[in-house]
Amino acid sequence: MIVDFFTVGILTTFSVFIYLAFFWKINWIRDLTKQDTRSSKFRARKTRKIGDLPPVYPNGWFAVLESSNLKRGQVEHVSALGQNLAVFRTDSGVACILDAYCPHLGANLAEGGQVKGEDLECPFHCWRFCGKSGKCTSIPYLNKAAGSIKTRVWESCEANGVIFMWHHAEHSQPYWWPQQIEKIENGSWGYQGRNEFYINCHIQEIPENGADWAHLEALHGPSILATNLLSNLVHHSWTNVGWSTDYTESRRCTEIETYPNESEKSTPQDQSMKHIATSRLCHQVVLFNRLSILKLDVTATQIGPGYVELLLQTTFGPMCIIQTVTPLEPLLQRVTHLMFAPVFMAPYSRVTMLGECLMFERDAQVWNYKKYLDNPILIKEEKTIKEFRRWYEQFYSKNSPSYESCKDSLEW
Ligand code: FES
Ligand SMILES: [Fe+2]
Repeated sequence: MIVDFFTVGILTTFSVFIYLAFFWKINWIRDLTKQDTRSSKFRARKTRKIGDLPPVYPNGWFAVLESSNLKRGQVEHVSALGQNLAVFRTDSGVACILDAYCPHLGANLAEGGQVKGEDLECPFHCWRFCGKSGKCTSIPYLNKAAGSIKTRVWESCEANGVIFMWHHAEHSQPYWWPQQIEKIENGSWGYQGRNEFYINCHIQEIPENGADWAHLEALHGPSILATNLLSNLVHHSWTNVGWSTDYTESRRCTEIETYPNESEKSTPQDQSMKHIATSRLCHQVVLFNRLSILKLDVTATQIGPGYVELLLQTTFGPMCIIQTVTPLEPLLQRVTHLMFAPVFMAPYSRVTMLGECLMFERDAQVWNYKKYLDNPILIKEEKTIKEFRRWYEQFYSKNSPSYESCKDSLEW
């Protein structure tokens, strides 16, 4: 009998371990903006100084949904970048984005609309609109073609588990596209989990983190198991290897396939890749200020204003994190991280992902309350922050909306 209990105990523990290590997917969600509703902090939001801000919606691709959240025939209402969008997946499996408001009498296509083949049907008078062209394909009480009636279509694409929308203040066509990472597409790196953060800040604050090497020791040095006792025994050590706009360097580091579409599309090379920047870091856990373990080399490839591919080379093997940043309002960002890794890395990827959630939350807490400084005092060792800001300016154009214009129009 004793042996039976012992055996059952071992088997149960083993089963729980296998489940947690291989089948449980992390889904870590934090809404930092909710902290402001606590009475003690409420004044902090009301009295917050926002600073002299850059435009609030840059030009580029932004995540609107994760692919797994949009099945065939499903339609979702997404509000982001000052727009209301009807995001739907056609019966053939293509993700399409139409302006949510029907051009007939303004009903919201995403609230009660239905997917019909490759079209979306309005719930109010059943007009149908093609997901690809936006053309009205049918009006049930009209006995002829709908003519030139159209609604607005948003350019969209899907890669690495994310549905993206192209946003451009001058309505220019995309000049680059997020690319599918081959190892994710062919399944050799499987999905391991995700996190999602809501943060009150300007979008630029978040990618600027990659060029701000000096915050690493201060903010990410203390142990994630931080207690006063443990902090003397274990801490994180970070070595900044660099921030650069050299595209070829970034691809060499990440060993991710080059972007065939882009190199074919435009010349010269430096112009076609100017939307890409790279930062590299080395991380180690240090025990007793002596012993370094769990080495991690991180290469973060920032592709446009709101999308990053992070390749992690760990002691045990590679992992990849897909980061997206989407402005839901001028000063409200949704940030997601999706983790992918080879199946043999699944247990260690869970540990790394939990560490990433805790470390990222430290940054997010700072962004949630900080003021944007247009002209910060930087010492010469921090020149990468200035370089980053010059680089990021390419995503703003003449008609990019300012915070003031959004506030006045309430078009959030
Ligand atoms: S409002 Fe959409 S069909 Fe009339
Ligand atoms: Fe950070």
